[in-house]
Amino acid sequence: MSEIWTQRYDRPDYLFGMEPTEFLVTATHHVPPTNALCVADGEGRHSAYLAQRGFDVTAFDPAPTALQKARRLDVAKGVTVARHQASLDDWDWTQPYGAVVAMFIQFQGPEARLPTFERLRQATRPGGHVILQGFAPRQVDYGTGGPSDRENMYTTEFLEQQFGGWTLHHLRDHDAPVASGPGHDGIAALVELIAQKPDQ
Ligand SMILES: C[S@@+](CC[C@H](N)C(=O)[O-])C[C@H]1O[C@@H](n2cnc3c(N)ncnc32)[C@H](O)[C@@H]1O
Repeated sequence: MSEIWTQRYDRPDYLFGMEPTEFLVTATHHVPPTNALCVADGEGRHSAYLAQRGFDVTAFDPAPTALQKARRLDVAKGVTVARHQASLDDWDWTQPYGAVVAMFIQFQGPEARLPTFERLRQATRPGGHVILQGFAPRQVDYGTGGPSDRENMYTTEFLEQQFGGWTLHHLRDHDAPVASGPGHDGIAALVELIAQKPDQ
């Protein structure tokens, strides 16, 4: 898996661009700066943005080519992010974060992703937030980016189940144009979530 991504990122430009999605920008209006974990962060566009906004950011991704570009982005933006080369299985999920950020991490099918969602919830401190964006199943028909596997995509019902008992500040499935480098370009079917874990 990470070998495929290592090759995908082995190009001079940024596959998903150097800027965050509009949704992440909006999310920072709701979630105040805190320590944040960016999961499967790729070339760093989201972690670097959060660092610019005053978050104390830790990020990981298994692809070394992505990490090199993310470090270059940090320099270009004048930010510091604690970056690690790691997969979901390598990561120590016991450290608590005020924001856990999972942007377009749809590389797992319905069974495999259940432990991942458990880890996202576990890594969020009481009162902290999960910020997540991905594609809805119809994205496969749009062909403007993302996995070709419909079942990897999210529905609002799935996310409601995964974050039962949390406060859902934002849960939305809609179509919108994305211009995130050559990787995500065109009208896309987007699913977005801002969920807050209950205080103990
Ligand atoms: C679609 S990209 C999204 C990257 C970034 N979050 C963004 O939105 O720009 C998916 C990312 O998942 C990473 N990835 C693939 N398999 C992984 C795994 N098992 N554990 C952690 N990350 C993985 C890839 O290296 C890639 O950077």
